[in-house]
Parts: sequence; C-alpha cells; structure tokens
Amino acid sequence: MTTQTTTFPADFAARTAASAALFERAKRSVPGGAGSTARLPRNGWEPYPLFIADGEGSRIRDVDGHEYIDYLLGLGPMILGHRHPGVTQAVVDAVRDLGTCFGLPYELEIEAAEKVVAAVPSLEQVRFTNSGSEAVGTAVRLARATTGRRLVVRFEGHYHGWQDTVYWSNHVDPHRAGPAAHPRPVAMGPGVPAELEDTLIVLSWNDPESFAALMAERGDEVAAVLTEPAVFNTGCILPEPGYLELLRELTRTHGAMLIFDEVITGFRFARGGAQEWFGIDPDLTTFAKGIGGGFPVAAVGGTREAMRLVADGTYSHSGTYNANVVQCAAVSATMDVLAQPGLYERQRALGDRLARGLEAIADENGVPAHVTGIGTVFQLWFTDREIRNWRDAAAHAREDVFTRWYQEMVVRGVLFHPLQFENLFVSLVHTDADIDETLNAASDAMRVVARDAVRTSGAAL
Ligand SMILES: Cc1ncc(COP(=O)(O)O)c(C=O)c1O
Repeated sequence: MTTQTTTFPADFAARTAASAALFERAKRSVPGGAGSTARLPRNGWEPYPLFIADGEGSRIRDVDGHEYIDYLLGLGPMILGHRHPGVTQAVVDAVRDLGTCFGLPYELEIEAAEKVVAAVPSLEQVRFTNSGSEAVGTAVRLARATTGRRLVVRFEGHYHGWQDTVYWSNHVDPHRAGPAAHPRPVAMGPGVPAELEDTLIVLSWNDPESFAALMAERGDEVAAVLTEPAVFNTGCILPEPGYLELLRELTRTHGAMLIFDEVITGFRFARGGAQEWFGIDPDLTTFAKGIGGGFPVAAVGGTREAMRLVADGTYSHSGTYNANVVQCAAVSATMDVLAQPGLYERQRALGDRLARGLEAIADENGVPAHVTGIGTVFQLWFTDREIRNWRDAAAHAREDVFTRWYQEMVVRGVLFHPLQFENLFVSLVHTDADIDETLNAASDAMRVVARDAVRTSGAAL
C-alpha cells in the first residue's frame, strides 16, 4: 500500500533542484528513473527520490550538497555506516591481491564461512550468494527437497524478496485477502503464476491459535514455515512471548523445517541475529543486508542436517558469482568488526535513547505515537493502538502522519524512509551527537506535524 498525497515544506523543490534534474535525466535511460522499484515516487519517494552524492559514517549527502544523518542506511545493509575504513580496505586489498571471481573455491571463502558460523547460534554450515531474494529462494526449495513436501507457510505483512514462490501477501488489501483467521494468499504483482497459490498457506502473524490449528490439520504436509523472526517489513513488530517457541515446537513435531529470514535482523541488534536475541534455533537461516557491511552479499545456512542435500550435491545451489572475492573479503572483515566487545550493547543503548526521545517528543505535542523495536532498528508508529500483525497495521497506523513527519525531518537534515511500514536503522557508528541532533530536529518537526493536524482536522490527533 502506498501513501496518500501530502505537501512538502515549501522550500523542498528549491532545495532539491539537482535531484529533480537527475531524475528527469535518469527516466530516459533507467525505467522509472531508479534502479529499484522501491526507490520510485509510487513507493514513497515523492515527488522524486533524492539523488545521493556520497556517504561517510552515519552521514549521507545529496547532489544538492545537503547532509543528512542517515537512518535509511541503504535499507539496512550499512550497519557499519558508509565506507567503513576497515571493511573498505579489506575489499580493496583482496581485489588487488587476489582477483574477483574464480569459478573455483579459495581460502578466503572458508575464512568468511567460519566466522559467520561462529557468530550465529544455529549455523553449522553456510553458502554465500548475491541477494536476499536468492537466499530465500534457495532455502524454500531446499526445505521442499529435504522434506519431500510442497506446502510453505508464511505470514501476511512479511517480505521475503521478489521470487515467485514467496512474492505474496506482503502489504495486502485485507478486503482481497479475506478473514484474518484464514487469509487467502495474494500475489504482490502481475506475472506471478496463480497456480503457486496452492503451494502456500498464509497466516496472520503473532496468532498462536491459527498456527496451531493449521499444524494440527495439515502439519504433515508442511515443508517449511518461513518467517521474519521480528517483522521489519511492516514497520516493526516484535514476536509476542512464546510465539517463536510455538513455531519451533510445532515444526519439529510435524517434521517441517523452520526458516528464519534474517535478511534484516541478521547481525543487527545482536551479532547472532534474532535467533541469538530470542534464543530460538531455526533449521535454515537466510542473511543479506548486514552480513557484508554494505557490500552486496547474502547467505543461506543451517544445521549440517539441513544443509545435507547441498553438501552432497543432490540439491544444486549454484551461481557464477556465489562467494566471489568482494563478498568474502567484505564478510570476513565485517565479522571482525562486529566481534568488538561492547559494540552492540553501546549501540542498542544509543538507539533506545533515540526511540524514547521520539516518543517523548510526540507525547509533548499531543501526537499519539509509540516506538516498537530493538535498539538499532525500530519504527515510530503513529497510533495509540498496539500493532501485532499486518491487519492491525493496516487498520490503525496513520501513514499520512508518518509521511508528513518524514517530510519535516528530511528538510531538517535527517533521512529515513518516508513510509510508515518501513523503519529507522541506527548503525554501529552513529554517535551521541547524531542522536542529539536528530532529537532537536524531531522537536521542531513534530510541532509542525501537530499544528498541521489541528489545522486540517480542527482537532488534535
Ligand atoms: C526479510 C527480507 N527478506 C528478503 C529480502 C530480499 O532481499 P534482497 O532485496 O537482497 O533481494 C528483504 C529485502 O528487503 C527482506 O527484508
């Protein structure tokens, strides 16, 4: 679902003339004017996306010369900020000293795999690949191959990439999807074969009853239960106590595989990802975003048993660019940085300070809002209702207010995604000064948001 139209502060067009000009130029040779549909006006970047000149640490600069404290962080990968000196140097050195792509294995690949396996609790083996979508596609097919079953259970509001098998029921219109207790799978765009609907069961997340009922009825047909262990593709929604445990228990009982899609959560609020944080070991895990400190790399891994068919070659996990030198150098160096003692504790505390500060500012201005998240990734929900799953978000979140707040923040030098159903990322190099500056901007911005709301509706929000 996309946003309603809201008005930018008057000086936005004047401030971003160079971005506007590049957007017009880009549209001539790049479909839509940007390299991913997620960067287009229809996905929140109205009236045109900012074009970026460069980034360093926690800051990013647009082509008009404005600097932003960056909470978009490339949609997640830049957990170490932009151009981390150690990781950048390691990649440059490896490319210069080794090459880029051999079509054969090499020692740095083992080193990178060993470090990832050491960091993530459930992992015994891992394969590197190129994108989160590829990693999820592999995990799903591998689960089907391993169990000899067809059905995959997934949840509304989660996003697992663009492959046909999983590109369903993300931000779905509840009227099309039917009752929350028995949602119908809805393909997220044209071109996805309708016949795949029969291979999926879609459920509402954080709803133990519907999951237990499904597993009691059809558990022995289920190849895999695929879930984000904390949902970051619908703002931020955390698992209720006992929910992930239930997924683990019932998949085990019925011989189905549990896949954690840790493309966002991996290496983010804990080095071992959500599985370390929540203490649940899945059979298979997918990673991307944080694993390479901003370089393009993804991974799929699991227990030795879960990776058995990959190991013996029965399941062909192939890819010309899998485990190339850029990827493995980036992963290896990123894992070293993430192992620094105290790093996560410090940055989670910093993120919490920002989250609590934003809540207080909303409160002072009479704007109903609350934060859900874990330190270094969260969302400010513009609602006073609890959000437990997609249906709650669709019913209660004020997308219009969020986008208005984004607009007032971006002109004050703070960048994050314009849509309520995305989130704010804090890197492991953001500082106290960044948080202070952000909260100052938020105080001003929230005052404007509250004033506008009173002006347009005649009453406080
Ligand atoms: C949880 C999750 N899984 C998979 C993907 C797909 O990853 P990629 O964009 O690298 O293909 C994303 C992307 O945002 C994601 O958030």
